[in-house]
This record gives sequence, structure tokens and C-alpha cells, in this order.
Amino acid sequence: MTREIDLVVGAGGKVGAALVGALHRHGATVVTTGRAGSVASDLTFDMDKPDYAILPEGVARAYICAAMPGADACAAEPEKAFRVNVTTPVELTRRLAARGAFVVNISSTQIFDGDRPAVSPGTQHSPYSEYGRHKSALEDRLRALPETPGAIVRISKILSLNDPGILAKWRDELVQGRAVSAFRDRAMSPVSLRQAVDALVAVAYGRWSGVSQVSASDEISYLDAALAVARIARANPELVRSVSADDAAGTVPPRHAGLDCGATETRLGWRFARSVQVVKEALGAEQ
Ligand SMILES: NC(=O)c1ccc[n+]([C@@H]2O[C@H](COP(=O)([O-])OP(=O)(O)OC[C@H]3O[C@@H](n4cnc5c(N)ncnc54)[C@H](OP(=O)(O)O)[C@@H]3O)[C@@H](O)[C@H]2O)c1
Repeated sequence: MTREIDLVVGAGGKVGAALVGALHRHGATVVTTGRAGSVASDLTFDMDKPDYAILPEGVARAYICAAMPGADACAAEPEKAFRVNVTTPVELTRRLAARGAFVVNISSTQIFDGDRPAVSPGTQHSPYSEYGRHKSALEDRLRALPETPGAIVRISKILSLNDPGILAKWRDELVQGRAVSAFRDRAMSPVSLRQAVDALVAVAYGRWSGVSQVSASDEISYLDAALAVARIARANPELVRSVSADDAAGTVPPRHAGLDCGATETRLGWRFARSVQVVKEALGAEQ
């Protein structure tokens, strides 16, 4: 009997690579795709010029992790970014689902404007970035596919030891005795790569249709996060300057970043870590 396949599209990215590891630990038969010339993968699949003929038979679950995230990438090549982020994932989902696969697509908090904390899953989209608009369009088009088994997993900012984002920048400055500025009126709600990937696997194996939301179980201000970094780095906390986003030049993060993950946690049977735990884990300071 042929084994069921878990197909990871975009296995070379941050989420894709971690997901492949988690699926192997789960005992799954994993088939990976990547672009020509990127990390080694079983199949070559370019989301910009999709060749659907390469899709294998026997896919039970598929995870679409390939994307062009980030405002800069979306602004530089808007048409290509839309194909990669919206048109191709929707068509891929349609084709895979027609052959019996349960397809998991990944969305983002950026489909919301961040004016409120702990946004509930049914809230109307209000994207503030081009990337957010792509994710919003992706969700709308997936929902419009008739009788397509699959799920959307909305995720906040993912942090990991390999990619601690702004935390690493703050730590490097602080340990060298340099001051950093952090917004007291902007919040993050990060999730660890480990928990994000565990949630993706649970959604796929549980065939939990609809939207599942994934973020920290609370929010932390940028200021408190920077103070936590100072404590972890044993740096002088007075080097952390409290500033308001209202006084900052350029683009600032939205006021809030958290999602209401209650329904996801109930199904999972475990809770997402608090923001400060995620910060500690991303800096290797988990006790
Ligand atoms: N990271 C986060 O904090 C976060 C939060 C919420 C949602 N998400 C979503 O999670 C998903 C994965 O994100 P990530 O952080 O893993 O992103 P990433 O590290 O930037 O990886 C993106 C992946 O997409 C692939 N890709 C880009 N253009 C492609 C194309 N034309 N054809 C085929 N593959 C292409 C890349 O391939 P190469 O390896 O060849 O470059 C890479 O494997 C995305 O949908 C993202 O929007 C991420």
C-alpha cells in the first residue's frame, strides 16, 4: 500500500524547513518542493511560473509555505508577488483538494489594522500593508472555492533562535553599552516557531477546516520586550529608552498584534506561550 504524503511547498523557508522537521518527527512521509537553485528539495515548483504537472499522487495533507512576505518584496514586484502569494496558492489548493488532499494555507495578522488587541477570527479584514492585502485576498479566494477541504492558519510574528528579529538587534546594541529606543505604545504578540509549526501539524492532521489563529496568549509592549532583552543580556536597563510611536518618523508597527487564539487552544488542548516566554526562547534564555 502506498503511504500518504505530506507535501510541503516552499520547504526552504523559515516555516517550511521547521515544518519538515516536525513532520519527520511525527513519522510522516514528506515530499518537499522548492525553487530551482534554492535548498535541496524533492520537486522543483516555482510559484511564479507554476507547473502543476509535477504534483505527486497520494497527497493527504499539503502545507503552502512558499510566499513573498514583506512590504519591500511586494512593492518591488507587485504582480509577481500577487501571483506567488495569492493566485498560485489558490490554484494549488484547488487542484490538490480535488485529488483528496487537505490543504493548509498560512495567513497573517497583517490582514487586520492592529487597532484592537486579541482580534477574533470572524473580524472583517482591514489590511494596512500590501502584504496584508495579499493575505486578505488569499483568504477571500480560498473561502470562495466550492467544497474544498482545507484550512487557513493566521499567524502573528514568528520568532526563533535562528531568527529572533528585532530582539537580536536590541541585544547586540545593549551588550555593547549602546542605547536602544522602544515604543511604549506599540505591542507585539510573537509566537515561537516551534509552537507555530506544532499548530500547523495539528490543524492538518485534525482536518480543522476554517480559520485557526496563532499568536502569543498575550501582548507585550516593545518597551517591555526591550527591557526583557536587557535583563536576559544582563545589560543596563537604563539603556532602553521609552519612546512613543506618535513621535517616530517613517513606518511604525500597528498598535496591537495579538489574535484571539482561544478556539485554537481548545482544539489543541494546550496554550500558546506568553509573549515574554517567546522572547526568552528566541534569545536562548528559556529556563
Ligand atoms: N515568518 C513569520 O513571522 C510569519 C508570520 C505570519 C505568517 N507567515 C507566513 O508563513 C509563510 C512562510 O513564511 P516564512 O517566514 O517561512 O517565509 P520565508 O522564510 O521568507 O520563506 C518563504 C519561502 O517561499 C519561497 N518562495 C518565494 N518565492 C517563491 C517562488 N516564486 N516560487 C517558489 N517558492 C518561492 C522561498 O523559496 P527560496 O527558499 O527559494 O527563497 C521560501 O522557501 C508565508 O506565507 C508567510 O506569509 C510568516
